[in-house]
Amino acid sequence: MELTLEQRNHFDKEGYLFFPNLFSQEESQYLKAAVPELYKRREEYNFREKGSEAVRTNFAAHLYSKPFAKLARHPRMIKPVEELLGERLYMHQFKINGKMAFEGDVWQWHQDYGTWLNDDLMPSDRAMNVAIFLDEVTEFNGPLLFIPGSHKKGFIKAKHDLTTTSYPLWTLDNELITKLVDRAGGKEGGIVSPKGAAGSVILFHGCLVHASSNNLSPFNRISVYLSLCAVTNHIRRFKRKEYIAHRDFTPIECLPDDCLVREYDVNLPWENGVPASAFQTSLQELSE
Ligand code: SIN
Ligand code: MN
Repeated sequence: MELTLEQRNHFDKEGYLFFPNLFSQEESQYLKAAVPELYKRREEYNFREKGSEAVRTNFAAHLYSKPFAKLARHPRMIKPVEELLGERLYMHQFKINGKMAFEGDVWQWHQDYGTWLNDDLMPSDRAMNVAIFLDEVTEFNGPLLFIPGSHKKGFIKAKHDLTTTSYPLWTLDNELITKLVDRAGGKEGGIVSPKGAAGSVILFHGCLVHASSNNLSPFNRISVYLSLCAVTNHIRRFKRKEYIAHRDFTPIECLPDDCLVREYDVNLPWENGVPASAFQTSLQELSE
């Protein structure tokens, strides 16, 4: 899958690309079918919504679940990012966000690179997210909201919010968001929210400002996010636990394109449990 010049230009200008129906229903259903069993587990890697049993985020399933281990090496997820960053990639973070019917809570306005720099000391923004919808995303179930072109601002100083939701986030204030939305066109395109069928994919720049509101609908909005980082841009500090911010900087080797519909062998290093080392953290900067 090669990006067209038009797609490259769109990414450069707007900070994201949307690929409706990039995966078939069969492929996305295969992934979705594996989620309930993962969400049921009483494990630290399942963050639940504040005051609720609903899973907000499951981390690192690519290390203990076969369908997600395959997704983590899928060429349709990896190759476009490899092309845009011009380098081999490693998996910085892997998460399955629930945004469950009625329970799925807000994600405040933020840039992902804010967290990657502030917490993990990732040297530059040569990393980005690629997300696949496992449910249809509509205006009702809390779609992602982007401020187009906001990635051009680069890293923006943020505030560490530890209280609003169950997950800490470096968030941006309303005054700044108002300015950015205004600059991006205000009511005429200052906020966009790509919506579409299960199997659709969004790729977005690490500095693109985004958010999502809570899900008041009776429809789940499960999506999987791969945060992919250029290998030479690996994090320099292990302040967050390893199941949240990975420490294996080995370049990802893609599987064949049909890996979600055919049998392939994949390595599941955490299949029998998360190693104790993955819960250890250090505030020390890594030496080169
Ligand atoms: C994120 O920003 O990391 C997740 C947002 C969402 O799933 O709505
Ligand atoms: Mn984010």
